[in-house]
Amino acid sequence: MSDDRHRAWRAAGEAAAALVEPRATVGLGTGRAAGEGIRSLGERVAEGLSCTAVATSPRSVDLAREVGIPVGDLVGSLDLAFDGADAVDPRGYMVKGGGGALVRERIVAAAARRWIVLVDSPTMVDGLDAWGLLPVAVVPFATDRVAGQLADLGPVRRPEPSDDGLVILDLSPPPGADWPAVADRVAALPGVVDHGLFHAPLADIFVGRPDGTWSSAA
Ligand code: A5P
Repeated sequence: MSDDRHRAWRAAGEAAAALVEPRATVGLGTGRAAGEGIRSLGERVAEGLSCTAVATSPRSVDLAREVGIPVGDLVGSLDLAFDGADAVDPRGYMVKGGGGALVRERIVAAAARRWIVLVDSPTMVDGLDAWGLLPVAVVPFATDRVAGQLADLGPVRRPEPSDDGLVILDLSPPPGADWPAVADRVAALPGVVDHGLFHAPLADIFVGRPDGTWSSAA
């Protein structure tokens, strides 16, 4: 992965970490952009900031502890959370779950009073067709039935289960599909735990640039 992308994620991550107030509870996402946010927050902790975190995957727990951020269990609400995304459209709809952590990511996003999305310019797309995949997390018992019900969306089963033992199916909505409608259809099926379509206000989508600056998508 290019240094440019990491510098851009770093710029967005620093901006999110700068919003963490003393004694805040913080939700930590999963992936490369979230990783830059975790490292940035770790630097603030090293400088004396006190905060407690909840992380959306074992790898983010490990990274947070490595950089000195105390990590605990999710109880009640979080003051702030940040996470990455695979693709974000101009309305603030986005696909997440490339790393398979979408279920915990949804829980943490919902628990946070403010949820910040960290991306770089290549992640901002004109439409989600440009990414093309919608991950869905399914209870193993229901997987074959759900895959059959979604056969028109070409479900492909990932070989590895999620951190919660769920099966991830990657769907391919056809070009021009109404992604929120597809997500609603998927969510209504018994056995589906969650899908990877998320939404955030454009002001809370931080787009980093390789020169170290960032701006919101608003
Ligand atoms: C993890 O399951 C995902 O939702 C990630 O947040 C998403 O895939 C973005 O990852 P990167 O920041 O590595 O591109």
